This record gives sequence, structure tokens and C-alpha cells, in this order.
Amino acid sequence: MSHAGVLVLGATSTVARSLAARWAQEGLPLLLAGRDLPEIERVAADIRVRYGSQVEVVACDTAAAGYPEAVLASVARAGPLRGVLWAFGTMAGADGSGDAQTLRDSAWVNFGAAPPLIEGLLPLIDREGFIALLSSVAGDRGRQSNYVYGAAKAALGTYGLGLRHRLSGKGPSVTVVRLGVVDTRMTWGMNVPGGTADPDAVAQAVQRGIARRRAVVYAPRRWALVMAVIRNLPEPLFNLLRI
Ligand SMILES: NC(=O)c1ccc[n+]([C@@H]2O[C@H](COP(=O)([O-])OP(=O)(O)OC[C@H]3O[C@@H](n4cnc5c(N)ncnc54)[C@H](OP(=O)(O)O)[C@@H]3O)[C@@H](O)[C@H]2O)c1
Repeated sequence: MSHAGVLVLGATSTVARSLAARWAQEGLPLLLAGRDLPEIERVAADIRVRYGSQVEVVACDTAAAGYPEAVLASVARAGPLRGVLWAFGTMAGADGSGDAQTLRDSAWVNFGAAPPLIEGLLPLIDREGFIALLSSVAGDRGRQSNYVYGAAKAALGTYGLGLRHRLSGKGPSVTVVRLGVVDTRMTWGMNVPGGTADPDAVAQAVQRGIARRRAVVYAPRRWALVMAVIRNLPEPLFNLLRI
């Protein structure tokens, strides 16, 4: 048992990779987790070479029969944690299209799978540590282009803020990250007015928000303003938008 590093759930995510590299640069050991083990091994090898860090890999498939118990057992064997990042997410079925299984998977990957794992991890996380959940501005107001995804991300955000409330003064700090549109494979080919944000710049803002123990971080920050406008648009005007 030697850990006290950061558990990165969804370590193949572009944003998560960038955050993992930043924590490695700070000298934190890493536990990289996800379902695509060959790719996660590649990410781990890259971080070891670049930063000389201690990086281990843990299998974490939210669709597996032993989820979350098998993941909890592997993480417990590794040792106590400084922090946890939840980065799993999928846009499949975001606009309500797709079969029943796709819609169930969206609710599960984007929200449902988080509480059973995060609650089980709580005894392993430092009191002074952190939990960061990658939610989305899609959760701020239901929109036709992504309301299934947005509903699950809103639930993830509410879960995070409720957990933060519960742990206040007696446990790790919980940060809900509401990401705007970031240039990753998730948004590949999307036509976004104003363009997509650079994942490294976004990761830097997220890392800073977590270190400052913020409740909510909008990254890039301008999305806080964009979403305040969208949330407050009267419905007749909102209905004219194809967003
Ligand atoms: N990019 C954006 O504009 C944006 C905006 C708002 C919020 N976010 C959120 O930020 C987080 C990171 O996103 P990203 O942009 O870095 O995307 P990404 O590179 O596509 O990463 C998504 C992660 O989720 C995992 N995943 C996808 N579908 C899954 C499934 N069905 N079951 C289990 N795991 C699955 C992927 O694992 P595999 O490699 O195994 O597929 C990967 O680790 C996600 O939670 C996303 O919803 C992103």
C-alpha cells in the first residue's frame, strides 16, 4: 500500500489525460482507470516517461457484471487516495435518437454509474483531498440537440453538489465541472459557433478550480455567461433557436 495519488476514471478521455499529466507534473502518483486497457497502458507509459511518475492502471468497465465492486477492491489494494476524477461520458443518443439500449447507456455512463462507485470510494479518499466530476453546460437547460445527455449531466452535477454539502467540514472537497465545448473526439465534426476550446487550457482551468476547492467550475469561463443567457431566454425566443 503506497498510494495517495489521483484516481482518474475515464483515463482515455482527452481532458482527463491532460489533467493526469498536470497532476503528474505536480508530483502526484496516478491510478488510471477505464475500459480500454491497452490505450490506458499507453497513456500510463507516456506519463511515466515524460514525468518519471508512479502510474498504475486499473480496469474499470461501468458495463461489467462486477461493477463497481471489482473496481473498489483494486483501488483499495492500491492504497488511500488524494483525489478522484470522474471523466466518463458519451454523446450517443444525446438528442433522443437511438434505441432503448442507447438511451439506457447514456443515463448510466453519464450519471447512473457514478454514485455506486464514488460512494464506495469515499472511505479511501483523504479528508483534505478532492472529488471532481466532469459535468457539462448541456445540463444547464434542456435543448433539443442534447437533452438526454444534458439530463444525465445535470443529475451528475446535482449529485456532486449534494455530496459536497454532506462532506462539508468533514471530508474531501467536491467540485462539479461544467465544461463548455472542448476540442476532443467527443465533439469531432461538430459545428460550434465560437469554436471549440483547447483541452489543455481547459484542463489548466479545471486543475486550478479543484485546487481552490471550488463548488462549480465553468471551463472555459465564458460558458457561465453564455449559459446564464440561455437559461433566462423566454421560451418563445428559445424555441426559435436550433441548438
Ligand atoms: N468535449 C466536450 O466538449 C465536453 C463538454 C462537456 C462535458 N464533457 C465531458 O467531459 C468528460 C470527458 O470528455 P472528453 O471530451 O475528454 O471525451 P472523450 O475523449 O470522448 O472521453 C470520454 C470518456 O468516456 C469513456 N466512455 C465513452 N463511452 C463510454 C461507455 N459507453 N462506457 C464506458 N465509458 C465510456 C471513454 O472511454 P473509451 O476510451 O473506452 O471509449 C472516455 O474515457 C466526459 O464526461 C464528457 O461528457 C465534454
